[in-house]
Amino acid sequence: MSIPKNARHKFMASIKCIGILTSGGDAPGMNAAIRAVTRTAIYNGFHVKGIMRGYRGLISNEIIEYHSESVSNIIQKGGTILKTARCPEFKTPEGRKTAYDNMKAAGIDALVVIGGDGTITGARIFAEEYDVPIVGLPGTIDNDLSGTDSTIGFDTALNTIMEAVDKLRDTATSHERLFFVEVMGHTAGYLALNGAIATGAEAAIIPEASTGDDQLKTLIDNGFRKSKNSAIVLVAENPETGGAMGLAERVKKEYPQYDARVTILGHLQRGGSPSAVDRILASRLGAAAITALKEGQRNVMTGIRNGEIVYVPFSLAISHTKQMNRDNIELVKVLSI
Ligand code: F6P
Repeated sequence: MSIPKNARHKFMASIKCIGILTSGGDAPGMNAAIRAVTRTAIYNGFHVKGIMRGYRGLISNEIIEYHSESVSNIIQKGGTILKTARCPEFKTPEGRKTAYDNMKAAGIDALVVIGGDGTITGARIFAEEYDVPIVGLPGTIDNDLSGTDSTIGFDTALNTIMEAVDKLRDTATSHERLFFVEVMGHTAGYLALNGAIATGAEAAIIPEASTGDDQLKTLIDNGFRKSKNSAIVLVAENPETGGAMGLAERVKKEYPQYDARVTILGHLQRGGSPSAVDRILASRLGAAAITALKEGQRNVMTGIRNGEIVYVPFSLAISHTKQMNRDNIELVKVLSI
């Protein structure tokens, strides 16, 4: 997005204090992002305020001064020191009015918000309603934001899945069992598919691979590798299939020859020290958010495409148009013969 030179100066001069918050599901690397945003902002002469508990803290006025030391010793920590919340109140005009009033009273001129789809959606509405400069950072393990190759937390969650499935493989092989391992992802199958590649799983059952067929039936009809009696299938959480539990129930009834077990990895996928990949990504995207504000950009999310920083309009980021790499879906099939 190109901004006229005189307009850029106007934006820069009008922003003195930047508020930062994390919202929605936490993701490893959020702290590294908070650190990068805070320090880059201070380096560039801005004041920084931390907003606790995401949009909820804007409404309940939990806003604190942030200094360089506020973000010391956090790059290696999972979770978010700013805490996070899901905030239904921010979805109402009244909630957003209170949030705006509190933000202005605290002297905050612009916001940096770190989170997933819901966070960016909230930012988009708030920015339009109150003409607030907002830059977003993609912070979610789901990797379901468009316009960026990866999101902060995705790599760490993938590594967590990999370690867990490696362990399950031992017991699956010993007992010659079929394991359905359910992973997170909201409505997206990135964790399941990439987790399947990384662990050598026999299959991934994900919404993106559905062509209206019965993925379980196809899988069983095609048979697992003849040379072994155990199998690991990564399953994206999905109310339509019933997730891992739903599939295991079906196997019990329809294919009783298999001894099926279920493991739901759940919230442990969101915890842990961020990987180097996520720390570096968060640091780059956090610094880029301040560059964006300095350049007079607004309503954009910082992202990464082919290793380069990009600014993604909020409307694109939440458009759900990200295309899954079809070759990777094929790869799981090929490598499990
Ligand atoms: O968006 C992140 C995520 O972990 C999803 O993968 C999952 O569906 C959801 O959040 C769980 O949310 P909660 O922690 O509110 O149960």
